[in-house]
Amino acid sequence: MPNIPVMQRIRKETEESHLINLASGELSADLFPNDFIKKTLSNVEFTGNLGYDHPQGSMELRQTIANHVREYRTIQTKPESILITLGAQQAIHLIIQCLLKPGDAVVIENPSYSFSLPIFKTAGLKVFYLSVGKNGIDPSELIDLHKKHRIKMIFTNPIYQNPTGTLLPYHKRKELLDISSEFGIPIIEDDPYSLISFTEEKPSTLKSMDTNGSVLYISSLSKIAAPGLRIGWIIGPNPVIERLADAKQQFDFGHSSISQWIGNQFLSSTFLDEQLLLVRSYLKRRRDVIAKELTHYFHDQVEFHLPMGGIHLWCQFKEDINENRLLENSIKEGVIFAPGSTLGTKKGCIRLTYSKRDEAMIQQGIQRLYRAFEHAK
Ligand SMILES: Cc1ncc(COP(=O)(O)O)c(C=O)c1O
Repeated sequence: MPNIPVMQRIRKETEESHLINLASGELSADLFPNDFIKKTLSNVEFTGNLGYDHPQGSMELRQTIANHVREYRTIQTKPESILITLGAQQAIHLIIQCLLKPGDAVVIENPSYSFSLPIFKTAGLKVFYLSVGKNGIDPSELIDLHKKHRIKMIFTNPIYQNPTGTLLPYHKRKELLDISSEFGIPIIEDDPYSLISFTEEKPSTLKSMDTNGSVLYISSLSKIAAPGLRIGWIIGPNPVIERLADAKQQFDFGHSSISQWIGNQFLSSTFLDEQLLLVRSYLKRRRDVIAKELTHYFHDQVEFHLPMGGIHLWCQFKEDINENRLLENSIKEGVIFAPGSTLGTKKGCIRLTYSKRDEAMIQQGIQRLYRAFEHAK
């Protein structure tokens, strides 16, 4: 199934024009670790395997990921329980294609990144929603959905969610795990953002709190280093990982060894801490600017919660607004964002991503957005 037309339109506009891009979920080029990669390529002897590698990916990188998640995300795992994927995106696709069948009922968050993915429909799944409020989902709603529809899996992005920026509070993370164990509903935890926290708080991933093996954990280097590396991973029980690895092999014969080698150098070096400090401090400043400018221009015409991490800010307009008109006007004014309808069912919302542009551009972007909004009313 193709991407919905508005997504295709946004992708095309962001590729071909000089719009202020508040739509793409990626870091700006100045935050990519170019210098580290350049130095590594010229100073460190390449030791990767240029042959077809292990179906689960480079052993060295899997060992490094096991060490990394233990230190940074308090997840205890072994290389055997890890599969390297082409970003988190391929991890989601492999799980859907291998572990679910047409007609299966799954739950996703509304709004969510999952909502924007055609794969859920292409795979013939019955998709049910849990609404995301200021404090994330209400896990108890999963019980009713399960009793009615026999839910096979829940997909969640509990830490600094895309698009709402919300952090599911600890007691709700615990409650979700308890419900998942009691009713036997596996959790797919999509976690690209937990290391981009703007506070001292280091939120525990569901995986780190999981005592029953109910969680399949997904993460990637896309939001802390660069999406072009296409390094992601899944952590789960060995038999599940082996099955997913078998499917990945049939699909692409494994991941690029150069990219895995660079990913390994990045994750095992002391540079990782420098990079995380840099990314967090830049993103926090950009978040502050976008929030300040939104308040300055829109006053109380728009409502949003300040995200404590991640790269997205979710805005709800107070009055009924024609989203398509706002998008068209915005493109004319020279700014682009993700319309809420691509990410969820709630009307009058947009997602603004503050990672792709610097503070001055964000400032101008919100000014342009306000002009577009005035003409869309
Ligand atoms: C919640 C979430 N999951 C998965 C992805 C896919 O990321 P990647 O495949 O680059 O790791 C994104 C990207 O925006 C995301 O926000």
